[in-house]
Amino acid sequence: MEPTKARERWMRVDIITAVPQLITPVIEASILKRAQEAGAVEIVVHNLHDDGLGNYSQIDDIPFGGGAGMILRCEPVFACVERLQAEREYDDIIFLTPDGERFTQSIANELSLKRNIIMLAGHYKGIDQRIRDVLVTREISIGDYVLTGGELPALVLLDAIVRLLPGAMSDSESALLDSFQSDLLDAPHYTRPAEFRGNAVPEILLSGDHKRIAAWREATALKKTQERRPDLLA
Ligand code: ADE
Repeated sequence: MEPTKARERWMRVDIITAVPQLITPVIEASILKRAQEAGAVEIVVHNLHDDGLGNYSQIDDIPFGGGAGMILRCEPVFACVERLQAEREYDDIIFLTPDGERFTQSIANELSLKRNIIMLAGHYKGIDQRIRDVLVTREISIGDYVLTGGELPALVLLDAIVRLLPGAMSDSESALLDSFQSDLLDAPHYTRPAEFRGNAVPEILLSGDHKRIAAWREATALKKTQERRPDLLA
């Protein structure tokens, strides 16, 4: 089924990164592209080097006080963010960082209601604290592990948010029945053939009795949640 056309663009997301080549191909080859074509979202990727300093377009520098690694400088980030802010008001400027609040479905739901957001992908320890103090309004982690940069986390947020936007997905892919939207994990799914290498599809799914099928799905989802994620039921 064709995605329904959103009447007006729902959301704009600006992603600021020193490595746009990590982000752009994913946007081009996923539901994110279709969501843009359907008018649900506009995604704009900004290369920090475009606002770099001097002939070498410098964006980072050695840390005051010594230590290993380079620190992202204030100037390129402020230049990029302030140029965007001159054009529209942003609801949130999100910095992806392992010491941020843990990303959940409910944060995705909340962010999907915003109009304009900026995501800043930086490097852990490697970003001048004044960027966080002055510009950033929200800091989000995608889990308790450290990645080399915020680009993959930004894509994780983007994917989780955009699929919730009206017009982003066809009805058959509706996000409303997902695991986590209902606080229950998803029930198992099957398609043809009804038997594969001696493994049969549960009989009830072939019965045509939609009431009993719905009850089976709910009971199976509940059992799976009790076994795997009892914390979701608590
Ligand atoms: N940058 C590096 N690791 C990260 C994580 N786990 N979540 C968000 N941003 C990060």
